[in-house]
Amino acid sequence: MRKVRVAVVGSGNVAEKYVPHLQQSPAVELVAICDPRVEHVRSFARTHKIAQTFHDVEQMLAALDFELLVNLTPMPLHAPINRKALEAGRNVWCEKPLATDFAEAQELLALARERGVNLWGAPANPISPAFQFMARALATGAIGQVFAAHGIIGSSGPAWPGSAWFYQKGGGSLFDVGVYNVTLLTGLLGPARNVIAMSGTAIPQRIIGGETISVEADDNTALILDHGHTVYSVIQAGFVYGAQRQDLTVQLLGTAGAISMGGYAWEPGAISLYRGDQTKAPGKWETFQPAEQQPYVWQSGATYIAECLATGIQPVLSGAHALHVLEIMQATHQAAESGQRIAITSSFPWPLATQEG
Ligand SMILES: NC(=O)c1ccc[n+]([C@@H]2O[C@H](COP(=O)([O-])OP(=O)(O)OC[C@H]3O[C@@H](n4cnc5c(N)ncnc54)[C@H](O)[C@@H]3O)[C@@H](O)[C@H]2O)c1
Repeated sequence: MRKVRVAVVGSGNVAEKYVPHLQQSPAVELVAICDPRVEHVRSFARTHKIAQTFHDVEQMLAALDFELLVNLTPMPLHAPINRKALEAGRNVWCEKPLATDFAEAQELLALARERGVNLWGAPANPISPAFQFMARALATGAIGQVFAAHGIIGSSGPAWPGSAWFYQKGGGSLFDVGVYNVTLLTGLLGPARNVIAMSGTAIPQRIIGGETISVEADDNTALILDHGHTVYSVIQAGFVYGAQRQDLTVQLLGTAGAISMGGYAWEPGAISLYRGDQTKAPGKWETFQPAEQQPYVWQSGATYIAECLATGIQPVLSGAHALHVLEIMQATHQAAESGQRIAITSSFPWPLATQEG
């Protein structure tokens, strides 16, 4: 396999997860890391044995030859850094979201097309074995026709020092964690056409690192997606959940069975599959562990893209899907504020089931 030259931007918490994952791949040559925190990035590069450090993205783009930029900076910097990289003719993998605004993300994808490169974004859960198991079960009609699904994700909310931004504008439980379920359920059921929603701030003040902060972002969101053909999914995302059953985070209900997924949608776990109709032709629940042979971790998206670039394999993930998810999340807030059903204009190549497995 040829090696793809990769540069990472941002050496924070998430880089600690991404970098070792990138470095274990035979398709990756990690050539540089860039962060304005001079001492921090030097020490990060020493620890992870990365040859070059930069403190400015433009300088790195001008000085260094590489094929894939991995953007792990705070959310407001995603769009400006993605734009610079695409303008310089580099492929980009970006942590969620591609941009904070749908129109801006649309422009970035158009720019990528114009420059003959690609922009992809987290979440990567459609490449997880659990997602692929479910997608193939749906495609083969294992549970009949699926018209209804739900997913719930959240916690009591981040509280560690430095986590205040989760509660500021642009943060909130939908953008932080609901994004995984919106990706998973649109990935399984197809693009959404409309959304209705309720969303609000349940807890107006939080204590972060010993300091009381005012909460500006919604910490309790419920939305219903219309996927067309009378297929509806219900998603809840909150920072107000003290506890939640881990075996019922996502459920797809078919006319001849059901699938439930364990674990949160950022790292899907065991699958329970029921074949049958409980009232007319009862079946039984069977449990599958698709991730056992092929472990999946949420930070594997950039490595997967580098491997696709190296082998020429068409990725299951697409910038169009990440854009669609961003439009849904923005429309959810609009729907909640207006009380109206909001039409979704974007779409993405679907279905996402691969042949293997
Ligand atoms: N923390 C999590 O649990 C988590 C999980 C999944 C995804 N994410 C996403 O990953 C991204 C990064 O999160 P994080 O927790 O690593 O944040 P972080 O604050 O720990 O790290 C961000 C890094 O970006 C650097 N940076 C700031 N401006 C820069 C610039 N102009 N050029 C280059 N680097 C710059 C900062 O100095 C910092 O080192 C965010 O979009 C976040 O939503 C976070």
